[in-house]
Amino acid sequence: MPALQPVRGTTDQLGDSRARHNHVVTTAQQIALRYGYEDMATPIFEFTEVFSKPLGASSDVVTKETYSFEDRGGSSLTLRPEGTAGCMRAIISNGLTQSLPLRWFYHGPMFRYERPQKGRMRQFHQIGAELIGVAGASADAEIIGLGAQILDGLGVLEDTSLHLNSLGDSQSRAQYKSALMAYLADYEDQLSDDSKRRLTTNPLRILDSKDATDRQIVADAPSLSDALTDEAKRHFEQVTDLLDKAGIAWQFDPLLVRGLDYYAHTAFEFITDKLGAQGTVLGGGRYDGLSEMLGGPALPAVGFAAGIERLALLASPPDMPADKIAIFAADAEAAAGCFAIAHELRGAGLPVVMMHSGNMKKNMKSADRLKCRFSIIAGSDELVRNQVAVRNMADSTQRDIDCDQLIAYLRAELGLPAS
Ligand code: HAM
Repeated sequence: MPALQPVRGTTDQLGDSRARHNHVVTTAQQIALRYGYEDMATPIFEFTEVFSKPLGASSDVVTKETYSFEDRGGSSLTLRPEGTAGCMRAIISNGLTQSLPLRWFYHGPMFRYERPQKGRMRQFHQIGAELIGVAGASADAEIIGLGAQILDGLGVLEDTSLHLNSLGDSQSRAQYKSALMAYLADYEDQLSDDSKRRLTTNPLRILDSKDATDRQIVADAPSLSDALTDEAKRHFEQVTDLLDKAGIAWQFDPLLVRGLDYYAHTAFEFITDKLGAQGTVLGGGRYDGLSEMLGGPALPAVGFAAGIERLALLASPPDMPADKIAIFAADAEAAAGCFAIAHELRGAGLPVVMMHSGNMKKNMKSADRLKCRFSIIAGSDELVRNQVAVRNMADSTQRDIDCDQLIAYLRAELGLPAS
């Protein structure tokens, strides 16, 4: 074991990277709340069955990527590779199937044993939204609209394009699968190794293979859209009409199939060319069959998730407001008085960072690095006069302020209402 290294594909979030992560989460959360989505969370591990069937026994995620283990009680558990199956499990186990529709927003870590590269981690983080209990096309459009406005709120919508496809219902998909398998059988020798394997297990995934020869072969394959039932076609048209009315740009992508098996009808991805191979920033679709796969009643549902790391790479860094106050003693005799003032200011709701040691120059440097707007310098001579020096870090002006006036002075300077 390489000691003192993070596990491959995991990372510490420190400083700027944590600020970017939080910026993505809070921006998305605020926009989702505006749409009526309720913030919620499920555990990061579930019984393995929660994922194995719904995500697809032959999907890459289930066959190659899950972190599964037996716990001390002998139960098979899996670290969640995604959030949707856990949400549906939560609806069923909390008896919420009669309380629909539900609009849920979540964020948190997900785990997939993938080959790490830029934008692809083994522990990564998602924001996600699920709308459960609405069958109509307006639900699909609402979810896509929410995804678009979150990307817009982060300033990255322009870097992406929305790809849309309909996977139809399970009946038309089964028929299409046989037609596709018959077509691909003639090219079996030329397919990539991954696609050869998928030919019998999951032929639809061959449609979105990145391999150049696979793509040539697939270009002349029978089309999934031709296999759709009239009802599936109507649903898709209604979704695209709503998007057009709202001015949400999209493009038809007949090869978009998504990597998880629970989808039916609408499937969509916001894709960017700014992140190299890992171009899907946000993806989702309708998954009406998932509840039944888990043993629940039939429930219509649609949702999406987006990788926070990928969004953070695209989004500009958040503004870090200079709203803190540094405080330090100018000499050892002033240390106790300085500590007491800091405690009082914090009690009055002011953001105060104490510099516990260091000379004046070092403390000023730290105050700058922490983006402090003011520094309070407490010297023993000034404290005897019941005063401290307050330095404005932006223009380096300094004033002596009476300790009894300090809270009122700082609140006014920071634009806070008088307490
Ligand atoms: P997904 O397409 O598997 O869908 O993942 C959604 C997003 O998570 C991807 O578009 C990508 O941005 C990010 N992502 C996936 N794997 C990784 C990774 N290894 N490293 C970094 N980022 C990654 C789902 O997870 C579905 N639950 C979405 C959904 C919600 N469908 C309906 N409701």
